[in-house]
Amino acid sequence: MDYVIEMLNIRKEFPGIVANDDVTLQVGKGEIHALLGENGAGKSTLMNVLFGLYKPEKGSIKVHGKEVNIEDPNVANRLGIGMVHQHFMLVDTFTVTENIVLGSEPSKAGTVDIKAAEKEVQALSEKYGLNVDATAKIRDISVGMQQRVEILKTLYRGAEILILDEPTAVLTPQEIKELTQIMRDLVKEGKSIILITHKLKEIMQICDKCTIIRKGKGIGTVDVSETNPTELASLMVGREVTFKTDKTPASPGETALNVKNLKVKDFRGVEMVKGLNLDVRKGEIVGVAGVDGNGQVELVEALTGLKKSSSGEISLNNRSIYNLEPRKVTESGVAHIPQDRHKHGLLLDFPIGENLVMQNYYMEPNSKRGVLNFKKIYEKARSLIEEYDVRTPNAYTQARSLSGGNQQKAIIAREVDRSPDLLIAAQPTRGLDVGAIEFIHSKLIEERDKGRAVLLVSFELDEIMNVSDRIAVMFDGQIIAEVKPEETDEQELGLLMAGRKSEKRGEA
Ligand SMILES: Nc1ncnc2c1ncn2[C@@H]1O[C@H](COP(=O)(O)OP(=O)(O)O)[C@@H](O)[C@H]1O
Ligand SMILES: [Mg+2]
Repeated sequence: MDYVIEMLNIRKEFPGIVANDDVTLQVGKGEIHALLGENGAGKSTLMNVLFGLYKPEKGSIKVHGKEVNIEDPNVANRLGIGMVHQHFMLVDTFTVTENIVLGSEPSKAGTVDIKAAEKEVQALSEKYGLNVDATAKIRDISVGMQQRVEILKTLYRGAEILILDEPTAVLTPQEIKELTQIMRDLVKEGKSIILITHKLKEIMQICDKCTIIRKGKGIGTVDVSETNPTELASLMVGREVTFKTDKTPASPGETALNVKNLKVKDFRGVEMVKGLNLDVRKGEIVGVAGVDGNGQVELVEALTGLKKSSSGEISLNNRSIYNLEPRKVTESGVAHIPQDRHKHGLLLDFPIGENLVMQNYYMEPNSKRGVLNFKKIYEKARSLIEEYDVRTPNAYTQARSLSGGNQQKAIIAREVDRSPDLLIAAQPTRGLDVGAIEFIHSKLIEERDKGRAVLLVSFELDEIMNVSDRIAVMFDGQIIAEVKPEETDEQELGLLMAGRKSEKRGEA
């Protein structure tokens, strides 16, 4: 077999961590090759090595069988390697074409003929079915189209090998289908694609080969036609996994959370929540579905007191919690599993035991007249560690040194243990392995069954469909539809998430 790319026995270290440890990746021409691993496994690092952003400590790279030294991204481009990063690198106020020619080596005496470039970009877009308007400004086009601009940018530079870093994470199901078709067209034209993902379904649907990295180590490469999701999952996490969420129907009680006409601005002062209405009753899980960037982050921040709203009402059990300080919101009965566990979830340099009492360290019995009672704190911590199966050497271990899944279990232990009236879970399983995901889902359901109101905000449709009793679709700062999981499907949800009213229902 002739390989277009070979990364052999790559090792890449960062201070205190080996991000890639003896990883080998061999990609054939015309192949869609998945790079699979949990969050933090080292996928992006490996691709940044290939793209010349990092220099490996060990190992070698061959392009078309010839050993190369990829010193920087310009060298990578010349070798025909293009990369679409997880976070796009486009200038908002520039046009598509301006972004594409930006930084590529100009032809005649340092100038670029924009009109000619526009034509070329438009032609490339048509050739690969990218459906991009070469003259549009980036700020006016959808996230999906921005991603296609990034793909065009690599093609314009002559890429033969395209690296796509978790491209589907920001897309709706329909956009994912479109991207799938684009990838198929690209390989038909002889391009090769390295697709980074942790979604097994995607791999099964579109990839030819799959290379697995687990905790930085290269585990191996499998033929997708000879494997299945269960095997891929266990290769990824290193043990057996099952995929099911056991759940009985909900029996919702009175309204717990009531949000009326809520408006919230983001850090730039742009209104992101635009008159939102939402109810969550006791004993039900309401899932907020939506594509990233439609105001979900601002909604959760407003509900938890992390951000002031500009107008509207928020009440919990008929008492206003609108614009209260975070601690007051907490004391009113709201618990929060935050999207960013590092920024809002844990004090990473503190022992896990102290993190477990972060919300109520100032209350009895953890503290009396302002004096902390460490004996009580650690007694409590140890029982939570046990109950929630937080894998840590002991309660004194720094939170930082726990794995993502165990950090998340610790946050959940802390938040759920306070017996909140309302539990807000924002992306609670993002980047976690399947085992931790199962555990967290079962905890959310358990809380629901104790009569608590649960608000789940997630970009993962599978999660929304499996866990929610009711789905609220968020688009452009509003809840534009409510559906029952058993009465909808990914197709309909995807359309709603893209802001289109459901055809099936006539109106949402
Ligand atoms: N620039 C960096 N400096 C220090 N550590 C890093 C850097 N980039 C990544 N890491 C660490 O390397 C590990 C692998 O990260 P990454 O390659 O981003 O994983 P993945 O893409 O599989 O989620 C993680 O533990 C991450 O924290
Ligand atoms: Mg990554």
